[in-house]
Amino acid sequence: VARGRELVMVSNRLPVDRVRLPDGSAEWRTSPGGLVTAVEPIVRELGCLWVGWAGSTDEEIEPFEIGSMRLAPIPLSSDEMASYYEGFSNGTLWPLYHDVISAPVYHRTWWDSYQRVNRRFAERVAEEAAEGAIVWVHDYQLQLVPEMLRELRPDVTIAFFLHIPFPPRSLFAQLPWRRQITRGLLGADVIGFQRVQDAVNFRFVTERYAGAPARGNTIVIPEAPGRPSRSVLAQEFPISIDAGGFEALAASPEVRHRAQEIREELGTDRTILLGVDRLDYTKGIRHRLKAFEELLEDGEISAQDTVLVQVASPSREQVEAYQRLREEVEVTVGRINGAHGSIGHAPLVYLHRGYSRDEMAALYLAADVAVVTPLRDGMNLVAKEYVACRADEGGALILSEFTGAADELRDALLINPHDIEGVKAAMLRAIHLPRDEQRRRMRSLRRAVYDNDVAHWANQYLGSVAAVAENRSRVL
Ligand code: G6P
Repeated sequence: VARGRELVMVSNRLPVDRVRLPDGSAEWRTSPGGLVTAVEPIVRELGCLWVGWAGSTDEEIEPFEIGSMRLAPIPLSSDEMASYYEGFSNGTLWPLYHDVISAPVYHRTWWDSYQRVNRRFAERVAEEAAEGAIVWVHDYQLQLVPEMLRELRPDVTIAFFLHIPFPPRSLFAQLPWRRQITRGLLGADVIGFQRVQDAVNFRFVTERYAGAPARGNTIVIPEAPGRPSRSVLAQEFPISIDAGGFEALAASPEVRHRAQEIREELGTDRTILLGVDRLDYTKGIRHRLKAFEELLEDGEISAQDTVLVQVASPSREQVEAYQRLREEVEVTVGRINGAHGSIGHAPLVYLHRGYSRDEMAALYLAADVAVVTPLRDGMNLVAKEYVACRADEGGALILSEFTGAADELRDALLINPHDIEGVKAAMLRAIHLPRDEQRRRMRSLRRAVYDNDVAHWANQYLGSVAAVAENRSRVL
């Protein structure tokens, strides 16, 4: 990073999760979600201190090392897991920031807990960070940390990146603590968003809720007693993946062999559609299943010629909206297989678990069509991973307009997931896409993914942060 400054990562989850096994022992697993997928490969190379939660409760875990990363676990009590994590982060902010697809719940006790836990993170970072460090805070669970940290450690440069969408002002206005959150974020020197629209939305709220107007990408925080005026860069930096890494993985003999095995198990004469998501209501899984079911009912496809593999990794299982979604999806899967399956041929293969990167790469290689239908998604890295794995220039990508990825992957078959007729038409089109059109589209998609891979993203983002850090050290 900026000439040998220390880099400190701060995210709710550490890149590894401590998982308790039934026999009482514990093991470390890679954490779920796009944040870790994208960020971990960069900092593994750069080296860093990473402050975050280890995924278990009521347990103090000593700092430990993985390669060049030093991990400092922040403890959470089971009560805080319910109020800060499941409550405010995933019962209030997550649905509010995703177009209120599920109704956000506003509880004052959750807010209290969110503040307390954010303070714990800020204090820990303040204790650990070296003089003049660059502290990179991630995501919606920690939006108060920038302001809290700035008060404790004015010497560090603070970067924040929001991995999920920032809502339009009309929705953000619902939040009883909208002023505090806005001020919390504005404690950063640089705030990164996924899409242009997210940055625009944020710049709209800062004047109203923090009295800080935006001039272009820069938000100006006016002078206050004892505090000079300062500016904050708020801009889009669309996140990406380690494209070369995925491509290399997909080219390995083991993964290719596994892809062949998957094709044989599913039937080499069938078209394979693939969905890969955390089991989350933002992902449009219901809409996808609805379109698929109607195509079966209409007789456009059958279990003999087509199969949809849906990987749904378990997520936030204590939150009610997730429990309802799981029930609904599982009932629907059962109904579709019951009505349209035969002995030996189920139209749907539903897998409620997470898989390794290798297995995912094999699935991407095996799939004729990737179906990505979120109702709202900050970026969606599954779309990019699928493209990166397809060095054969085969396969087709159906992609929702409501993902950040759709801004870049213009040659996907873009759909509005609410328009079930449109999703059905795109599925049929993808199934029958001529080989040369597949190739043309995939080539263009691959160019887009490679032009902005994670190294490029990190250079852009950390480049801006480093420039700010240099400037600050000149002034301080
Ligand atoms: C998304 C969020 C991450 C989060 C991940 C997994 O990618 O942006 O902040 O870590 O989902 O969700 P979880 O609640 O299990 O951490």
